[in-house]
Amino acid sequence: MGFRVLLTHQLPDAALEILFDSGLDLSIDIAVQSLSVEDLHRACHNYDAIIPLLSDRITSSMMNNSRVQIIANYAVGYNNIDVDAARQDGIVVTNTPDVLTAASADLTFALLMSVARRIPEADRFCRDGKFTHWNPMLLLGADVAYQTLGIVGAGRIGTAVAQRAIGFDMKIVYVSRTPKPKMDEMGASRVAFEELLQCSDFVSIHTDLNPTTHHLIDETALNMMRPSAFLINTARGAVVDEEALVAALENSQIAGAGLDVFEKEPRIHSRLLQLPNVVLAPHIGSATAATRTKMARMAAHNVVAVLRGELRLNPVY
Ligand code: GLV
Ligand code: GLV
Repeated sequence: MGFRVLLTHQLPDAALEILFDSGLDLSIDIAVQSLSVEDLHRACHNYDAIIPLLSDRITSSMMNNSRVQIIANYAVGYNNIDVDAARQDGIVVTNTPDVLTAASADLTFALLMSVARRIPEADRFCRDGKFTHWNPMLLLGADVAYQTLGIVGAGRIGTAVAQRAIGFDMKIVYVSRTPKPKMDEMGASRVAFEELLQCSDFVSIHTDLNPTTHHLIDETALNMMRPSAFLINTARGAVVDEEALVAALENSQIAGAGLDVFEKEPRIHSRLLQLPNVVLAPHIGSATAATRTKMARMAAHNVVAVLRGELRLNPVY
């Protein structure tokens, strides 16, 4: 009997090409709309392999006594999957590391620059026909060069952000459970979380989301930041207490935020939408054509390897 593979969303063609070229006896389905909890439950019981999106929550009860052998997440983060339960049930979970590191770091820097230099406001100003004369006091922003960047979570993406910051002559501090020689070689200093909050002009989040990082940036943390500082989050929304962030922005406790991720994605806090000092993006960290193709290839290769009974290519446990 052949294997059944489900893509929970249309992906770049590379995924299908790799699956079709694998030589395996596969039947492939592509979901045409977002899958409900019941759909995902059924999918775990009817398919051997699933390639889900980061928005598909896959829980213990879906995986228990199911048919699925591999869940090849189309993302580097995998907080949408109960990995402990998968491990207990012998289900392989894979992700797409490395291929999206540069794109995600670029987007982080794009948000940092945009909020510091008020690019979206400037763009709206031009489109609204308001550029009537050069004004010495118009749209004054914050410096990026020579400022201090605080990197929370110095993994692959955090390190790639630090590399970019060096080009801007920034001073870099970071927090990480373990020292990171690559960061230290770049001249970055490992500091305590509180110190990072207090000394940074930009705080950028690059941790994964897990019980220890949930609401890591809460009211207390925001209170420690400088009134002139900006928060950048391209990691996971729930690392930040969004309600506390909105309050801090409204009360000018911090200067602004650049956000690619949200606590209740795809919902965005309504008061965030009202704030001019916030730049918003709809979770597009890895959204370049080339990167999304590489992620598709990687997810498909992970499926093929596991169904062939070969080595797990990008296991998360
Ligand atoms: C994007 O957020 C990812 O985890 O790949
Ligand atoms: C993500 O892959 C990271 O390590 O930052």
